[in-house]
Amino acid sequence: MSRDRENLLSSAKQGGLGVRDMQSQDLKQVLAIELNAQASPWGRLSFEESLTKQHRCRVVEMNVECSMTAIVGYHVACQVVDELHILNVVAAPQFQGLGLGHMLMSDLIEIVEQTHCNRVFLEVRASNEVAQSLYAKWRFKQIALRKEYYRPTSVGQPREDALIFMRQT
Ligand SMILES: CC(C)(COP(=O)(O)OP(=O)(O)OC[C@H]1O[C@@H](n2cnc3c(N)ncnc32)[C@H](O)[C@@H]1OP(=O)(O)O)[C@@H](O)C(=O)NCCC(=O)NCCS
Repeated sequence: MSRDRENLLSSAKQGGLGVRDMQSQDLKQVLAIELNAQASPWGRLSFEESLTKQHRCRVVEMNVECSMTAIVGYHVACQVVDELHILNVVAAPQFQGLGLGHMLMSDLIEIVEQTHCNRVFLEVRASNEVAQSLYAKWRFKQIALRKEYYRPTSVGQPREDALIFMRQT
């Protein structure tokens, strides 16, 4: 197991892993993760817009040596009346498969409960089986499909369908 993954697990065991609101000072770290993790990464402006519009933007932070911290995941969600729309959910690639996805979903569902939202929506690439498996475990069900919604990730590739998932609270 890599040093990074060992650090995350030991940090989690010692209670050194927490979720807090994202701040603009976090964007350098967040953008570095976003570029590595996503097929179509958000740019700085998208995160800045979410922060300005007071979307729910949260980061998972882990303690590392010498009282330093590092961001290892984040999510962005937007409330529309009694609906929560999940716009972005990411675990840093070197820490995937260690439970951060569940931690991010747990935080999102806490937000749903605090805001008394009745439904939660998100969209996901048809090829993204890992994310779909995570959402299914959190009681999301596919309710629609948007044909050829996503632009190709590289030249010569076809556009990709989006699956719309919903969870009724
Ligand atoms: C989707 C994502 C957030 C999941 O985060 P993660 O930290 O790897 O997830 P976890 O370790 O908490 O695992 C959560 C679930 O995902 C699924 N999963 C995780 N790794 C998997 C793998 N290698 N193969 C298949 N399913 C996997 C499982 O259902 C797992 O549940 P389980 O551990 O109870 O079996 C992460 O893969 C990611 O950031 N991907 C890139 C960005 C992205 O696609 N975001 C979603 C956009 S809609």
